[in-house]
Amino acid sequence: MQIQKIIRLLNVFFEFIHDKKNNYKITHTKGVVGMSYFQDDYPVHTRDFIEIFDLSPSTPYVLADKKKDLFGFKEIKTKSNTFYNAEAIRNYRLSKTKENKPGEVISFYNRKGGVGKTTLIHQQAVYSVMAGYKVCIIDLDSQANITKSFKIERPKEQKTWLQIFLKECEIKDAIHEVRKNLHLIPANNRLSRLAREIDPHDGFTQFKEDFDKLKEVYDKIFIDCGGVADSTVFQTLTTSDVIISPAFADDYSEEGLELTMEELEKASKLGFNPRHIIVINSYYQKETTAKQYKKLYLELYEDTVARTVIRRAVDFTKATSEQRSLFEFCYDNKIDNVLDDVRLLWHEIFNPEQFEKLLKKRAIEIEEKKAKEAKKKAKSQAKKQGDIHIPSTESNISQTEHIAQ
Ligand SMILES: Nc1ncnc2c1ncn2[C@@H]1O[C@H](COP(=O)(O)OP(=O)(O)O)[C@@H](O)[C@H]1O
Ligand SMILES: [Mg+2]
Repeated sequence: MQIQKIIRLLNVFFEFIHDKKNNYKITHTKGVVGMSYFQDDYPVHTRDFIEIFDLSPSTPYVLADKKKDLFGFKEIKTKSNTFYNAEAIRNYRLSKTKENKPGEVISFYNRKGGVGKTTLIHQQAVYSVMAGYKVCIIDLDSQANITKSFKIERPKEQKTWLQIFLKECEIKDAIHEVRKNLHLIPANNRLSRLAREIDPHDGFTQFKEDFDKLKEVYDKIFIDCGGVADSTVFQTLTTSDVIISPAFADDYSEEGLELTMEELEKASKLGFNPRHIIVINSYYQKETTAKQYKKLYLELYEDTVARTVIRRAVDFTKATSEQRSLFEFCYDNKIDNVLDDVRLLWHEIFNPEQFEKLLKKRAIEIEEKKAKEAKKKAKSQAKKQGDIHIPSTESNISQTEHIAQ
């Protein structure tokens, strides 16, 4: 134990010296060495840059080297990683895409609370910025959890969607720039009045005009809906392009999904058919009931269930409690597994072609890892028994458990 502690401290020390030598700004946060990254911009790992644009492994370095001025590349190198600023990735994206598509509205909704709507919206919005998109999050939950995640000052005094809807303010007056290319329209408890202000006789597209205005400016508009089925939620559902319903693989969530489906059916009868995706969240593969519910969801909702499953990890809660994005939290703590689920889900929703390629890549990576582990285990067992017996790797390879189908 002591030796491990010493090794860890030495590692931290050497990384600190390395970064100091390269003039990277180092900050100490809660006992870990954390980078201050790019102040108001998100750091994009080279691996993400490669995967998002399907580049060859050396391209990001060449681009950053040769087109620094054109795209505004800034670079942070740690001992084992290189990060670029999301703004440069955006400039690169804009240089690649000629057409000017309007943005899309992506709402997170499930009648059951506490299923990870706010958590997943945060990560998906941040990853969209990292992928070079301009993003706006609208907090439509009067509990204002996503607003709290971004440390908005005096949230009670801020303008919300209520003032926008009542035309008491311009949209731009309610927007907060929380990072470069990540804007937020906050919520507070007064927002619950909005549902009472909506007159159902005025139709189901009362948010459309304002959403359309946002679509001209932002590529992706993420909406955090509350867990109640009120008029605010219904108006949002009818005007969304995509609806994402996170659900735990348990009994309560199953009931919540049923109610969610009822709401969507109501919308469908009125002629609104947004793309709907159910995401199994906080999944723990060793729980038998979780496996059973995963199977049930697939039987009941078939293709609506995302193939990516978000595994349970305490890092989600830890990152939230530090009011940080999961990405920065994981980079600082050298954690990667949990980020991979977030990345895969993003590709599945927004970059389906690349998603298929990534699935194959990940399956190979997992097989290789398992084969390596099996070999290592067999070797150590053989050493113990004085007998060399290496089992076939195939028998040790199980299916990738975080893929639903
Ligand atoms: N994949 C996960 N693994 C572990 N904890 C999670 C996961 N997703 C969400 N949580 C935790 O579950 C709780 C509820 O999540 P939250 O996003 O606030 O739900 P909602 O917005 O649907 O009410 C939070 O404490 C959050 O950190
Ligand atoms: Mg929430």
